[in-house]
Parts: sequence; structure tokens; C-alpha cells
Amino acid sequence: MNKSIKGFSKLSKEGKIEWLVNEHFENPQEARKVIETYWHADPKRQKIHDDFIENTITNFYLPLGVAPNFMINGDIISMPMAIEESSVVAAASKAAQFWLHRGGFKAEVVSTKKIGHVHFMHKGNSAKLRQFIEDIKDQFFEDSRSITANMRARGGGVTGISLVDKTFELDNYYQLEAGFETCDSMGANFINSCLEQFAKTLKAQIETSEAFTEEEKDIQIVMCILSNYTPECIVRAEVSCPVAQLDEGTGVSPKEFVEKFSRAVEIAEIEPYRAATHNKGIMNGVDAVVLATGNDFRAVEASCHTYASRKGKYSSLTHCSVKDDVFKFWIEIPLSLGVVGGITSLHPAVKLSLEMLDHPSAEQLMKAVAVSGLAQNFAALRALVTTGIQKGHMKMHLLNILNQLEATKAEIEEVRAFFENKVPHHSDVVKKFCDIRGIKSPSEISKKK
Ligand code: MEV
Repeated sequence: MNKSIKGFSKLSKEGKIEWLVNEHFENPQEARKVIETYWHADPKRQKIHDDFIENTITNFYLPLGVAPNFMINGDIISMPMAIEESSVVAAASKAAQFWLHRGGFKAEVVSTKKIGHVHFMHKGNSAKLRQFIEDIKDQFFEDSRSITANMRARGGGVTGISLVDKTFELDNYYQLEAGFETCDSMGANFINSCLEQFAKTLKAQIETSEAFTEEEKDIQIVMCILSNYTPECIVRAEVSCPVAQLDEGTGVSPKEFVEKFSRAVEIAEIEPYRAATHNKGIMNGVDAVVLATGNDFRAVEASCHTYASRKGKYSSLTHCSVKDDVFKFWIEIPLSLGVVGGITSLHPAVKLSLEMLDHPSAEQLMKAVAVSGLAQNFAALRALVTTGIQKGHMKMHLLNILNQLEATKAEIEEVRAFFENKVPHHSDVVKKFCDIRGIKSPSEISKKK
């Protein structure tokens, strides 16, 4: 197979589609139909989406769902969630409803600092370099004044610059580490622009300094980039209630429930295999809100998983305690989010989500996202230690299976009623569907062969 092409990006959208469908699809017309079906009817609106990335051919739909009744610090919000996985929104809604009657969620932003680095190599003496950086510190701020002006006007900016000596891990390797406050923006462009200016200042200052020999002046700037690890941009959310109030819908006594729930959290705290899945469930809730509000879920994922490993072993992002018969369950995660900039004012569904959240500040959004992660984890653990996860999961997945089979509304209702109190495994659903239609199911056909 050789499908290479030169100058693809220079082709018109039509040219790209023409090449793509003819080269990659058995039925180019069918492929083109799918591509065109998902275009926005209004070309002006479609253009907004086309321009987000390069080589856009169509839109990739994800459902935007809503989980209502999230009480956070006394206010009740509706959580916008963009996600393809069935049962996540249902689980969030259930957890929100559960905690609504038990005091709701409490959330606080612990810190908001973001970090970026100029990574560079220097062959000189590290103490001399450290002193030099101290001496020229004001110059970094001075040279970046035009870049930081707007952010400073909003109350943010560069909070500090220092040298980090990494030569014990990699010969000649240093970092110029800078701290940033980016207010209501995620701040990636701002941070990277500042860092690139800091690198220029550093190079220029060293090259014109008399304190360094010719060899020492030859510093190598390797790269300037923000860190997506933001351990000083932390939000904490928690729920708590008397153990006796944990009685609803679990089928077990509150005492037994709390014991099993606590064990499940402890297992995720000590066992990376379980922690990965446990945290994945948390990220179901986190990412869905991050995505719906136009934020960078890859950055959030990277940061949260690095944070989960900060003690040298990958571990749970949530924790719980039982003291004096009070159950407490909490999450602490690094979240670097924005409510201005990026696609926040361009993507219609993002604008809708932010309005649904009553135009939150970045800190308010951090709280909502952390709460969504905690709620999702609560719902998953509650199901895991009581009924098992498949009951709820497969119920939601049932509709996907039936849609794949192109079942009618009446057929869907009949199959749903049949599986009301049973776990709907895939082959059983297909069999029931075939029974209703009076046709042989694939498993019956293969049995006969
Ligand atoms: C599935 O997307 C998420 C869970 O696996 C999370 C967990 O096991 O805690 C249910």
C-alpha cells in the first residue's frame, strides 16, 4: 500500500477530499457522503470548525450530555459533559443526586501557579551561573514587559525566575524555571512566549558579559516550553457524611459499604494496576467537562497522571477516611484550565457549556472539574463494591448494540423490558433481537455448522 502524496496541505478542501476518498475507500461516493453529512449546514459556521486545525475534512461528533444537581459549596450547577462512553453521564447524575441530599460537594482551589522552563546546556561553573542569573533577573522582567502587559493588567504575570541545576542528572544541563499566574486563561501561549523571550535575554546577557570566558559564553538553548505538570496549580474537592447516611441503593448495610469502599480506595493507593483503572474512572468525569469547556484534556491527563506518581509510585488520586463514624472522600488534582482564549469563544458548544456553568472563572471551573472526577469515582467504586460494574455499564451499552442492529423503537423497548433485571451480554441481546424479528441469531447459525 502506498498512499503518499506531496503538497496535501496546499490542496483545497475539495481537493483533499477528492484525493482521500479515491485513494482510500472502496466506495468513494459512500465515503464522501459520510464526510458531507457531518458538515454544518451553514458554511460560515462550518468554516469556524475547519479553521481549528489543518486539513479538516468534516466534523467528528461526540455527544454533549448534562449531569444536573451538582451542589458545590452550596450552589447547584448542571455539569456539561462531552464524552463517548455510555454510563459516565448517568453515573455523574446519580452521584450528584446522592450527594445533593448529604451536604453536596465542597471544593477549594489550593494554588494556581503554572511553570515553564528554558532548558539549556552550559559548561561553566554552576555557582557563577546562579549568581549571574540573580544579577540579571530584572532584565528578564524588563525584556518581557510588552508580552506580559495584558496579563499584568489582569492581575497575573511572571511570579518568579530561578536557576535549576540538573547537571547531576545530565551533564551541563540547567533550567531557567519561571512561575506564572495566568488568571482566567490556561496560558500556554503566554507562558511559551515569555520563555522564548527569557531565552533570548539569557543568551544575549551571557554573550555580552565579561564574567564569562568564551567557552562559558557558548550556552546552548535546547528548548523553551511550559510544563504540563502543574503540581502548584491544585484543586481539592470532597464529600462527607455520617456513615449511617450511606444507606441508599447499595443493597448492603452502610457499615459494610464503607468498609468495602475504603478497601477499594486503599487498593488503588498501593497497587498501580488498580490505580490506573481507578484514576481512569476519575478522568472519565474530569475529561468530559474539560472537553466540553474547550480545554486541553491531554494536558490535564498528563498533569494528573504525573501527580499520581509524584511519590515514586503510581497511586490513587482520591482518598477516604472514616473517623468518628463520619465518612470523608476527597480528591486533590492539578488542573490547568482556562475560560478565555483558545477555542472558548469560538466553539459554539463550548460557549454553550460555559454559559450553562454561568460563565465561571478559571478557579470555579477547576472546582467543577475536580468535583466531576470525584463524583465519577464515587459512582464507579459504589457500583464495583456492591452490584458490580457490568449491570449499569451493559444497560447503557444495550442501546449502542441495538442501534448497531438498527432496531426500531418498539424493538428497543421490548429488548429493554426483557433485560430489566438481567445483565445484557452482547450475544444475549443479539439473540433476543433476532428472536423478536424471527430470524436466526449468529450464535445459532454457527452452532449448526
Ligand atoms: C470505566 O470507564 C471506568 C471504571 O473502570 C473505573 C473503575 O474501575 O474505578 C469503571
